[in-house]
Parts: sequence; C-alpha cells; structure tokens
Amino acid sequence: MSVPLFDTATPLAPLRDELVAKLGEVFDSGRYILGPEVEAFEREFAASLGARHAIGVANGTDALTLALRALGVGPGDEVIVPSFTFYASAEAVPPTGARPVFCDVDPDTSCVTPETVQAVMTPRTKAVIVVHLFGNVAPVADIEALGVPVVEDAAQAAGAVGADGRRAGALGTIATFSFFPSKNLGAFGDGGAVVTGDDALEERVRMLRFHGSRAKETFELVGYNSRLDEMQAALLRLTLPHLDRWCDGRRAAAAAYEESGLDEVCELPRPADGCAPAWHLYVVRHPRVDDLAAALQAAGIGHKAYYRVPTHRQPAMREYAGDGLDLPGTDELARTHLAVPMSPVLSAGQVAEVTAAAHAVAPNTMR
Ligand SMILES: Cc1ncc(COP(=O)(O)O)c(C=O)c1O
Repeated sequence: MSVPLFDTATPLAPLRDELVAKLGEVFDSGRYILGPEVEAFEREFAASLGARHAIGVANGTDALTLALRALGVGPGDEVIVPSFTFYASAEAVPPTGARPVFCDVDPDTSCVTPETVQAVMTPRTKAVIVVHLFGNVAPVADIEALGVPVVEDAAQAAGAVGADGRRAGALGTIATFSFFPSKNLGAFGDGGAVVTGDDALEERVRMLRFHGSRAKETFELVGYNSRLDEMQAALLRLTLPHLDRWCDGRRAAAAAYEESGLDEVCELPRPADGCAPAWHLYVVRHPRVDDLAAALQAAGIGHKAYYRVPTHRQPAMREYAGDGLDLPGTDELARTHLAVPMSPVLSAGQVAEVTAAAHAVAPNTMR
C-alpha cells in the first residue's frame, strides 16, 4: 500500500520501550484486576475529559449496556439508536431487555439530529444513544432538550471537542468509550470506559461491572464481569497524554484534504458546527463509490466501506426494525460512503497522493 488506510504503529513506535517496561512493572506487581493502575487511569481519563467519573470496563459494547442498565433501562423500554453506526451501538440494547428503535442521521455529519430522534420518540422511549460517528460531535444538548437521557457513544470520538469547548464524552448524562486497538486512544487488547458526572450513576456502573456488588460479599444486582484490566490501564496511562497531539495530527490531515481539491471529486465530511472532530475515520461520499474505490485501489491507496449494510438491515435486527423502516439519510450514506486514509501521521504529501488518485474518477455529482 503506498498510503495505508490507517497507521497505529508509527505514532506508538517512540513509546515502545516505555510501554514494554510498564508491562514488566505490572507483571511484577502481581496486581492484575482492579488495582492501582485502573484507579489512576480512571482519575486521569475523567480529568482529561473534564468529567467527574470514569469507570474502566471490558470493552465499548459492555460500556453501552452498563450505561443503559445504570439509567434503569429494562424490559418494555425503547432506546433510540442511529442505524448508521457500528453494529455494537444497537447490539448493546437487547441485553438490557429493551428494544432498539432505529433513527436516521444527517448524511453530511453522519450523526443524529434532534429531528431524526424526535421522529421516532414514543412514550416508551427511555434513552437515546447518540453516536459521535467517525469522531464528529453529535448535538447532545439539543437532544437532551427533548427530555430524554442521552448516552453518548464516544467509541470513535476520544479527543473530539464540542462547539462550547467541552469534550465529546462529557456533554450529556453518561458516555461510553472503546479502547479497541485501532481507536484514537487504543489499548493493546480490548478495553472501554463509562464516563458520567452523576454520582449515583457512577456507583451503579461500578457495581454492574463487578457482578452487581459493592464489596464482593453482597450481590445486589444481576450484573456483569466487565472490567478494564491492570495491564491495559497501565498502558493507556502512558498513551493518554499523547491523545490531543495525535488528534491535532488527524485534524491537520483533514485540513490538508480540504485544501487538496478532493472536494472536486467527492463530498467531504462536514464537522458539526463549531466543533473540532477527532477524525477517527475520514469518510467521503461519491455517487459511484465503487469507481472511486477502484481508482484508489489501482493507486495502492487504502480505502474501506465500513457500514455498507446499515444496522437496521442486519439479520439479527429484523425483529426490531421490521420491513417498512424508511431512513433515507442512512441509506444514502450506506450506499455512497468510503473511508480514505487517516491517521495522526498522515502527511500533506500522502493526502496529495490520495487526491490525485481520486481525480481519476468522474467528478462529484452529489451537489
Ligand atoms: C461507534 C461504536 N460503538 C461501539 C463500539 C464497540 O466497542 P468495542 O469494540 O470496544 O466493544 C465501537 C467499536 O468497535 C464503535 O465504533
């Protein structure tokens, strides 16, 4: 590949010795589950977001289920979730006993809007999962103003900043993160976190992640075994201080795309008004996206369609979505989207290569 789709190795290379030494320290400590590293990471991660609490859990999917359970979501409830997202955003709902109800997104931002959420609200709506997709920032306050608690799915948005300067993940009632290795803040295995400013929700998530117990003797809830482990927390403590710089690199690459003339060929993603996206993925649209993919392929340039079949059309979701669901923004994005290279170290020269290769296809006719 002359320009890879993503590059997690180059930004981590200078940290290798420090990371390996830390692994040795944790190994020697004999503390592997819920010890000092997890506690310290929780404190440091919450502080980095300007939030009161972070609770380390096993992955970003569990984080969503635990956040919903902490909010009291259960059988008979509905949880609104966009269809155009990674499948896990919706998959996290049925384990609570509630039903996912799919809403549309704005194809320009890839995020839900107050209108798309309101269109599917019912008296049974107990929560809305708002996904900061691709690292863009969804309008959390406008959706909370509809009178329903918001769970921010910030799995793809570590390092994103909203229009008022607050961080994605600290904008609503409760938020979730994934530390899957390819994420902006990636661990070296699975990991996740729930973030909240609410003391009661924090306490419930802490119990839920440990079998519904506070002190390992009395089990008050049917919970989960879902913990971030000490090794992952220790490594995340070393990478967290680099997150903002890495996101600045992603934003510089996005600016280079905007200046490169790529918009003459395809539709570029639009940052939500006033926000600084974390650009986990840089996803463009083209009406004949297979031609664009072929042009990039021929030039050895990484590309990927992540959600060609949106969640509401996935076999496991038939029971919740039915047949007649009309989500035009979702269908358009699903049909036309393509991720092009993005990373903290993507150079202006590499961006120029991508744009030159993309010019081999007929220009953008979406506008
Ligand atoms: C938007 C979104 N939500 C949830 C998840 C689930 O996270 P995990 O893979 O850590 O379970 C992911 C990522 O994989 C994601 O991209």
